[in-house]
Amino acid sequence: MLELVDVRKAYKVGPVEIPIVKGVSLTLNAREIVSIMGASGSGKTTLMNLIGLLDRPTSGEVRYNGANAADAAADELASIRNRQVGFVFQQFFLLPRLTARENVELPLTYRGVGEAERRRRASIALERVGMAKREKHRPMALSGGERQRVAIARAIVGEPSLILADEPTGALDTKTGAEVMALFKELNTEAGTALVIVTHDPQVAQQCPRRVVMSDGVLVHDSGTFDHHRAGAPAETRP
Ligand SMILES: Nc1ncnc2c1ncn2[C@@H]1O[C@H](COP(=O)(O)OP(=O)(O)O)[C@@H](O)[C@H]1O
Ligand SMILES: [Mg+2]
Repeated sequence: MLELVDVRKAYKVGPVEIPIVKGVSLTLNAREIVSIMGASGSGKTTLMNLIGLLDRPTSGEVRYNGANAADAAADELASIRNRQVGFVFQQFFLLPRLTARENVELPLTYRGVGEAERRRRASIALERVGMAKREKHRPMALSGGERQRVAIARAIVGEPSLILADEPTGALDTKTGAEVMALFKELNTEAGTALVIVTHDPQVAQQCPRRVVMSDGVLVHDSGTFDHHRAGAPAETRP
């Protein structure tokens, strides 16, 4: 579904180019759940922005269903992003003046979906995350966990094939974080939405069938698509 081929990103700071992502290759299959762990500053958010087509790589390819997104024009890129990817962030990024339902409608608004259909689909998405009763509330009137549920409804309303979550439990207490993680897994099982989740929490990472580790701009460990450890591989093949 998604393929990264030797992806690199450097930022220009004054006259110097500072490499941040230094050659990442990764294949993500449909329905897969992958966690990315790594020290602060190792390039996780930069990589997520490249995967989510919010930013273009300095070199390398980001392929969705075989097509290199680097070849796409800006509006085409936005369209692939809008249809393929749902985003969830640590700080929720809900618009404070809009109600929960209006926030959830936004990706459909950008897609040109009519009002009645937007409402219908936003209500379904809110129902799926257990927030149907709060659809008229503004973000300020919601708890952190509730805000993240609304953000997740916004991420799934367009039925993306992939959700990118950058430290989605980072601003939540342990119990609420666990509930959000359970919700992600439920949505993955029900709708088959693939999930890439950046986390500092080993408990969250442990729940992901595939775990990769990023260090100083490269992936230094990948537990692999097939998890030998959990599948009960012979001891001598374990790390
Ligand atoms: N727009 C930018 N311009 C210059 N440097 C940046 C920019 N964005 C991120 N960086 C730098 O890239 C490094 C990696 O950042 P980031 O991807 O946010 O890491 P992580 O999410 O793993 O903490 C940091 O040192 C950060 O300062
Ligand atoms: Mg980050």
